[in-house]
Amino acid sequence: MRILMIGSGYVGLVSGVCFADFGHDVVCMDKDAAKIEALRAGRMPIYEPGLDALVETNVKAGRLSFTTELVESVAEADVVFIAVGTPSRRGDGHADLSYVYAAAREIAAAVKGFTVVVTKSTVPVGTGDEVERIIRETNPEADVAVVSNPEFLREGAAIEDFKRPDRIVVGLHDARAKEVMTEVYRPLYLNQAPMLFTSRRTSELIKYAANAFLALKITYINEIADLCEQVGANVQEVARGIGLDGRIGSKFLHAGPGYGGSCFPKDTLALVKTAQDHDSPIRLIETTVSINEQRKEAMARKVVRALQGDVRGKRIAILGLTFKPNTDDMRDSPAISIIRSLQDHGAQIAAYDPEGMENARKVMDNVLYAEGPYEAAEGAEAVVIVTEWNQFRALDLARLKGLMGHPVLVDLRNIYRAEEVTRHGFVYESVGRPQ
Ligand code: UGA
Repeated sequence: MRILMIGSGYVGLVSGVCFADFGHDVVCMDKDAAKIEALRAGRMPIYEPGLDALVETNVKAGRLSFTTELVESVAEADVVFIAVGTPSRRGDGHADLSYVYAAAREIAAAVKGFTVVVTKSTVPVGTGDEVERIIRETNPEADVAVVSNPEFLREGAAIEDFKRPDRIVVGLHDARAKEVMTEVYRPLYLNQAPMLFTSRRTSELIKYAANAFLALKITYINEIADLCEQVGANVQEVARGIGLDGRIGSKFLHAGPGYGGSCFPKDTLALVKTAQDHDSPIRLIETTVSINEQRKEAMARKVVRALQGDVRGKRIAILGLTFKPNTDDMRDSPAISIIRSLQDHGAQIAAYDPEGMENARKVMDNVLYAEGPYEAAEGAEAVVIVTEWNQFRALDLARLKGLMGHPVLVDLRNIYRAEEVTRHGFVYESVGRPQ
């Protein structure tokens, strides 16, 4: 199959290189010439474990290439994936579909022969219908089938998720397109990954319903964690106790500072808006969104409390800036709100993150970016773990204590055991566990 990916961001690039690795001929296209230039030189625009090696192998094998040119690439492709960004529209939370629709127009003008056009970007219900309408309006002769094929990749584990998916969801209304999509995913299909064919609208909704459910699950355990703190229970044991019930499942029950990233915050908001627009509000998710927002402030207050209610002029070390480990992504990271709030309380922030500091600098000034965790902790009154990078799991606590003015450790990811930390003379605060 000849596959074209329009958009070489996170989704387009990971999907494109994995399709190439299946043996398809893949072209990854992007309008950003600097990005394409860098990819050609073997430099990745994002940090994702294993991505650079997989790109190199497939480029060498002649199955993967990069371009800024769209017209010819569309004409040559059997399948064109739209994997452009769908950011939250400023002010109203709706997904901004202008890039998707612009791509549809360009595809329509360039298409030759039967072509399957697949939306991989996360798009609200009905977007596939609009993409189809735009293509037909722009070029009534175009022989295309428009398909929805959402992705379920987690940053930091995206290649693994792509190659071993729980399921592949494909929404379509065209028998020829079904054949093509089956061929595109044949290697996974042979590996018994369930392939679910649905209507296009159903497929579009599955993506939002899945992400919103996971966000809801996290928010639920976060509220249980708050209750645990009040009644002297342990949220990790509660999570295990309920997670062993197969109907509940143990994943996504880690209490923490609230969910962040490029997906959950944006997708929950977009689902809320779609539901309201259709006069069918999903109040559970409306509440999830607002609880998660408030949670970040609450985490900053937790730090302030751990320092006896006063952080003015005090140095606080933040370990972990990205919204989760193994990524350099800072989008909607809880660390941003927590840091801003602590700064509003008058604290001075020193921070360290293994991969996220370059992106962090773009969104936060007034922060001292340190060389490592111990450098950040020098002279600090408190160390706050916001992201559970492996590097922070086995810190030398004696060394850390020696560097700090006042040894307080606030562990917002529950990666330490209270006994161990307090034995070293720290005041220790975590989330939803007895002190
Ligand atoms: C999420 C979904 O997990 C993917 O299936 C989906 O494809 C992707 O969004 C997307 O729509 O593109 P991702 O945002 O990369 O993936 O990261 P997650 O691992 O889901 O974590 C999201 C946030 O939830 C992070 O801030 C993480 O720290 C938090 N989280 C996750 C918790 O606080 N507790 C948990 O138990 C799990």
